[in-house]
Amino acid sequence: MPRRKVAIVVQVSGLILVIFTLFWRTPPGELLGNFHRWNPSVTETPIDGTNDSSTVLSQSSVQSQIRAILDPETRDVPRLKCPSPRMSRYGYLSAKDDRSVKGVRYFFALNLRNCLPLLPTLLGSIVEAIRLLGPKHCALSIVEGNSPDGTAEVLSALERELGDWTTTHFVLSNDLDPLQQDRFPRLAQLRNMALAPMLQAPDQYDNATVIFLNDVAICTEDILELIHQRVFQEADMTCAMDWIGGGGENENDKPAFYDVYIARGINGDTFFEIPPDLSWRLAQNLFWNDAVSQARLRNYHPTQVFACWNGAVAFTAAPVVKRQVSFRGSNIENGECHQGEPELFCKDMWYRGHGRIAVVPSVNLEYSVEKGQYIKAVKGYTSGWTANTSPGERIEAWLPPPDNVKCMPTFDRQTWRPWNETLE
Ligand SMILES: *[C@@H]1O[C@H](CO)[C@@H](O)[C@H](O)[C@H]1NC(C)=O
Ligand SMILES: *[C@@H]1O[C@H](CO)[C@@H](O)[C@H](O)[C@H]1NC(C)=O
Ligand SMILES: *[C@@H]1O[C@H](CO)[C@@H](O)[C@H](O)[C@H]1NC(C)=O
Repeated sequence: MPRRKVAIVVQVSGLILVIFTLFWRTPPGELLGNFHRWNPSVTETPIDGTNDSSTVLSQSSVQSQIRAILDPETRDVPRLKCPSPRMSRYGYLSAKDDRSVKGVRYFFALNLRNCLPLLPTLLGSIVEAIRLLGPKHCALSIVEGNSPDGTAEVLSALERELGDWTTTHFVLSNDLDPLQQDRFPRLAQLRNMALAPMLQAPDQYDNATVIFLNDVAICTEDILELIHQRVFQEADMTCAMDWIGGGGENENDKPAFYDVYIARGINGDTFFEIPPDLSWRLAQNLFWNDAVSQARLRNYHPTQVFACWNGAVAFTAAPVVKRQVSFRGSNIENGECHQGEPELFCKDMWYRGHGRIAVVPSVNLEYSVEKGQYIKAVKGYTSGWTANTSPGERIEAWLPPPDNVKCMPTFDRQTWRPWNETLE
């Protein structure tokens, strides 16, 4: 682009941003805090026509991604439609004006790989959550790798853009390939890498909540609800519900709960039954053999489980910082059931006395913008379910772990094992 054209584009987009600021839906002083940097410096970056062979995105598409991430009102890239979070419910979570808070209160952790179309929604919701929670008391840790689609370029520009607004730890273009053999130990390594900054400064994090998110289409209110339920229920860990499929030609084609390989109810069983024919025809019958959880799920109230992940979690940082719990693969040599690293994480949490683990059925997620929009239409927005429950339905009795938990290395091999097998 010739310089004059660039200058005009810069001026026009500057004007648009000024107009945005004027018509911001909440008083800028309250929401933006000291975060004014997003406006000018995006456009200050010189566009010099050089062509780094390692980049796949143009400067301007990187910048429109950055604008979309930093401003939830931006509509020029596809994103999940999200309501403004209700601060009457979540305002108390803010650490902004609380001088008694030392160190980091909220640690956001992500492993991202090749998920460019999700970034405006996912990172946009995180940035908005950080804005509301108090940027000085938040940290954002992202480990990225193997993203030919330009995810790393957007993240690199975002890290520059965020500057010291909040604490950032970005590891870009690491080459651990999670899709190679022995998947779970590798995924565990990647997750630990995202948590590593906490271990380097443990005294900063002993009272923090970790918000660990997969590549999900998530709203700010979903994130805040997971944190709120962790505080309100005095839970060690809260999880969303994630879904796959549905919306096909057949009206019986309904979304199925997705993370069935990992998740276990408080009775130790899978969330739905996988029959010997390995079909998911029983997927609509969640918690089929646990009446209490079934009733709570039906009313969209949180319920205790043995293990969950479901695309988005909030958990206490304490056992991680104390090096009691980390992500790991199964201890196969000692005969531990082969399972995913999130299930092992929950198992180890229980072992360390952190078994207040609950799913939050009002938070429903999918893995793309389009499917995320569909799932919000079918399952409802979080705020739709929480509007009349203030601040929520308490889990009255936290139970001890089940004696046995279903071991399911593959869907066709299901046995029962002591919940704490091979732990000493
Ligand atoms: C930059 O690289 C792209 C893709 O390889 C190419 O299409 C484009 O012409 C290059 N631009 C410049 C200024 O060299
Ligand atoms: C720890 O966090 C809780 C809320 O999450 C807060 O009430 C408490 O004061 C904090 N303690 C310290 C020492 O910061
Ligand atoms: C496992 O937990 C049960 C209680 O649920 C306990 O009786 C048993 O001693 C534990 N075993 C190990 C190896 O910790």
